[in-house]
Amino acid sequence: MQVLTNKRVLLGVTGSIAAYKAADLVRRLREAGAEVRVVMTRGATEFVTPMTFQALSGKPVHLHLLDTEAEAGMGHIELARWADVILVAPASADFLARLTQGRADDLLAAVCLAGGRTPLAVAPAMNAQMWASAATQENVRLLGQRGVLRLGPDEGEQACGEVGAGRLLSAEAMILQLAQLFAPGSLSGRTVLVSAGPTREAIDPVRYLSNHSSGKMGFSIAAAAVEAGARVVLVAGPVVLPTPDRVERTDVISAMEMHDVILNQAKEADIFISTAAVADYRPALALDEKLKKDDSRLKLDLLPNPDILAAVKQQFPRLFCVGFAAETQHLADYAQQKLHKKGIDMVAANWVGPAAKATGGAFGSDENALHLFWCGGELELEQASKDKLARQLVSVIAQRYVLHERPDSDSEGNKVINIKR
Ligand code: PMT
Repeated sequence: MQVLTNKRVLLGVTGSIAAYKAADLVRRLREAGAEVRVVMTRGATEFVTPMTFQALSGKPVHLHLLDTEAEAGMGHIELARWADVILVAPASADFLARLTQGRADDLLAAVCLAGGRTPLAVAPAMNAQMWASAATQENVRLLGQRGVLRLGPDEGEQACGEVGAGRLLSAEAMILQLAQLFAPGSLSGRTVLVSAGPTREAIDPVRYLSNHSSGKMGFSIAAAAVEAGARVVLVAGPVVLPTPDRVERTDVISAMEMHDVILNQAKEADIFISTAAVADYRPALALDEKLKKDDSRLKLDLLPNPDILAAVKQQFPRLFCVGFAAETQHLADYAQQKLHKKGIDMVAANWVGPAAKATGGAFGSDENALHLFWCGGELELEQASKDKLARQLVSVIAQRYVLHERPDSDSEGNKVINIKR
């Protein structure tokens, strides 16, 4: 199946015994419909000749950073701009280390550095001990945090005779994962920050103010974002739910704690989905000892909590921010007011309280219904399980996110050229 039709793949080949497999990869990428250009490191040319890749890709192979003729034709900046995706396969331990350091001392490293928001994928291939080493693992972790997509490695018998992880992933598996990058609804290589659950605002060591949020909606969203290929960071208020697979979770109690953790995590995020039911107020004074009961009326002095979502958008204007609106009346009006007041990119509105009976209940229930609003558009997601709704919501977010990142693209990321009549 031509899953990469019209996609431009810049294939970087580095010095690894698996470099010969990259020749077959070029053939398979072209069969999948992609246009392929190859950049080789000096180490790679010790294993396979550039002529092999030239014959298979049908394009000149790019070798040197300081080749004035090549730079005048398609230099490292143009190569990076040309590509829809940069794939380094095989990626040696040395190349991963250089990539982590942000080096630009050969053509491939410079292209990766100049790639900007072009998706970058690496397919590591090396001896099992080198793969398992603390240095390589740390490099891979840091690259993952920066949104670099890792393809493999596979496990099995290696060229050096050892058995373990470090084999280059098969061409078929790599192509399928690359195709995912271009699938509508995909969040591959993106970091999604999700908040979920209630917050608790202490009155004294035994009492608190809170609300009915169970965290179910936010946890379903975190799981759906993982399914869509994202790295997911979940900041959860006090709930009793298991952590979804492959989600990085931090637990907090109060709104102030949630505020600090989220603002810190937002630095690394591409998308923030604010599902938490953050308490709007906290007691001005949380008592150290239990408040003693007497028969007189009690007045609590409450301070407003900071609006976490508005603060995130203000501090990180490029971050794609999705808020929720939990309403007991005037759902559409109040939701749209929140969209504009908080300056966010999308709002998912749901009924809560008695008004929510018809749509599944929202708080604590396994079902919900959502009405999505963004600037110039809206979409109703009818009543369904929170898992199903979360998948639908994440898919819409992924499509809107593409437009937010590349305003000249359609919702599937294809470049749109507007012809003025
Ligand atoms: O957890 P469940 O039981 O599954 O229930 C799901 C839910 C009803 C909690 C969820 O779907 C939902 O509506 N979450 C948002 C609840 C809420 O606080 O809504 P709001 O209209 O008060 O807040 C608007 C937005 O601002 C929300 O994105 C909220 O996270 C954010 N906010 C609010 C107050 C505050 N101090 N800081 C914020 O960031």
